[in-house]
Amino acid sequence: MCGIVGYLGSEHDPKDVILAGLEKLEYRGYDSAGMAVFNGNQIERIRAQGKLIYLKNKVQDKKFTGPAGIGHTRWATHGKPSESNAHPHQAGVIHLVHNGIIENDDHIRKQLKAEGVTLTSDTDSELVAHLINRAYAVHKDLFLAVKSVLPSLKGAFSIVVICQDNPQELVAFKDGPPLIIGIGQGETFIVSDVAASLQYTDKYIYLDDREIVKVTPQGVKIFSQAGIELRKEINQISWSADVVEKRGFSHFMLKEIHEQAQSVAQALEPHLNEQRTGITLAHQLDGLHFLNHNNQPEIVFEKALNDIDRVIIVACGTSYYAGLVGQYMIEKFSKTPCSVEVASEFRYRDPVVSKNTLFISISQSGETADTLAAIRLAKSKGVKTLSICNVKNSTIDREADIHLYMNCGPEIGVASTKAFTSTLTVLSVFCIEFSKAKKQLDLKSEQQWVEGLLALPSQIEVVLAYDKYFSDASDALKKYHGFLFMGRGVMYPIALEGALKMKELTYLHAEGYPAGEMKHGPLALIDEDMAVVMLAPRDELYEKTVSNLQEVKARGAKIISLGSGDDENLKSLSDRYLAIPKVSSWVDPILAVIPLQLMAFHLAQSLGYDVDQPRNLAKSVTVE
Ligand code: AGP
Repeated sequence: MCGIVGYLGSEHDPKDVILAGLEKLEYRGYDSAGMAVFNGNQIERIRAQGKLIYLKNKVQDKKFTGPAGIGHTRWATHGKPSESNAHPHQAGVIHLVHNGIIENDDHIRKQLKAEGVTLTSDTDSELVAHLINRAYAVHKDLFLAVKSVLPSLKGAFSIVVICQDNPQELVAFKDGPPLIIGIGQGETFIVSDVAASLQYTDKYIYLDDREIVKVTPQGVKIFSQAGIELRKEINQISWSADVVEKRGFSHFMLKEIHEQAQSVAQALEPHLNEQRTGITLAHQLDGLHFLNHNNQPEIVFEKALNDIDRVIIVACGTSYYAGLVGQYMIEKFSKTPCSVEVASEFRYRDPVVSKNTLFISISQSGETADTLAAIRLAKSKGVKTLSICNVKNSTIDREADIHLYMNCGPEIGVASTKAFTSTLTVLSVFCIEFSKAKKQLDLKSEQQWVEGLLALPSQIEVVLAYDKYFSDASDALKKYHGFLFMGRGVMYPIALEGALKMKELTYLHAEGYPAGEMKHGPLALIDEDMAVVMLAPRDELYEKTVSNLQEVKARGAKIISLGSGDDENLKSLSDRYLAIPKVSSWVDPILAVIPLQLMAFHLAQSLGYDVDQPRNLAKSVTVE
């Protein structure tokens, strides 16, 4: 997914601000980079294919006067990775950077070619630059030119534009991919992610969809697409700049795996009661009023939860697997039907829902296009929406009625780790509150569950010892040509998540399966080069899972098993045995995933792959 950095100011050389910002956005995944910056009255545009270092080498001896400049890291969607396809794109006096997809690009391309325009790239972004350039020739005003072009563009896109005729102006438009305005002292930033300018300012304005921004030395003005000026809140960010650094770890992903003791505690903290024996859900309700017994609008949250007769959880990737864990919890404890759907499927279905359905979206970034489309579909059907996000004021967060937060700090590694365990923690907290509202959870059960959650940070510290274990074991794991992750009950989604970590980091074949499904096909995969990871904690399905393990062992599979404490039985059946502390069945999933994260991390490291930015992947998929 692309990264955008726009700057207007004289406090810094725009080149330095742009390079520093793009560096912080590298985690988003990209294949080329570029910048266009004023030098006197001329805009200089420099682009490079490949990693940021190639752009840096081209500009390192250059000085720029600014004050305006724009920069971009591109994750190719239309047109292959190349310098000519890299942003910024230029047409006449216009330079532009873009994130998202213009869906009617074919029509625009044909129209421009028919007018004799010569295109220099395969991208949809360049087309927008030509349209704005043509409009500018009429309006002689960059803001009006951009505004006049927008109705002819279809799709989800965010752009930042500068014009040769005015070095003192940036114009931007947001619809879909995030754009955030950083308010500095005498300088302004327009970025895809606050991390890109956190070292310069902690004050930000979050743009909503279809808003246009005009930035000049006199300040920032924000308008609706109809041209009505808007008043927007300035938010102060609490993340200090160093938080996004690696803090001595080799990779962001390893740092984030090790942060899980702290991040799980941070996810839990806001919901603990005074005595730390129970849960009171610390939620935010925006514009959502539940009716009280006199049918008066009032925020009676517990009553509203009690009225819920069905829960639908919708997400993508790792967040979807977290939702599957939530399904087991919600049905077991609240006795309420719960389904979990992949967002890219849900958004195109015609779901049968009612006003007593609760729609829960899970999204670390809060910007995943499919999940955003799914929550919008749910809202259009009058369903109450609750979001579990990590990024406050992200698009999904702002569109939901009820807000819960992972609170795990910025997750930079593309492979999600701490967001997953924080989500499971928040889902546990939600499930406790929900089950109480449904009169299905007694005080003793609540206290036991809360005790298990409170024990997690120290138990996670114990499990993190597998960092050294897999650092030593990774060479031996290289001999496997594939991995089959299996588990039963609430361990099945953990098997799916373990397989996702393995495939997205090592590029090896890895699948997650319900252990009970083995005879229905996967058993055919078993040979001595296939590693079977069997998740078998001491829960009510333990015996059945062990018998599945014996079946694969009999067929020559190499067994890596995971169990509770010192399980001699599992050890005797396994080539490698991973022990997690026995706390309770409902926190086991949070502990069980950590060795699997570490196994995938170290094997990928050992294979020499880019662990923080795996090939073909982006941290947040803001386009379909
Ligand atoms: C997980 O390791 C992947 N990076 C990916 O599956 C991710 O979980 C998915 O794209 C959803 O992202 P979100 O939580 O930001 O919506």
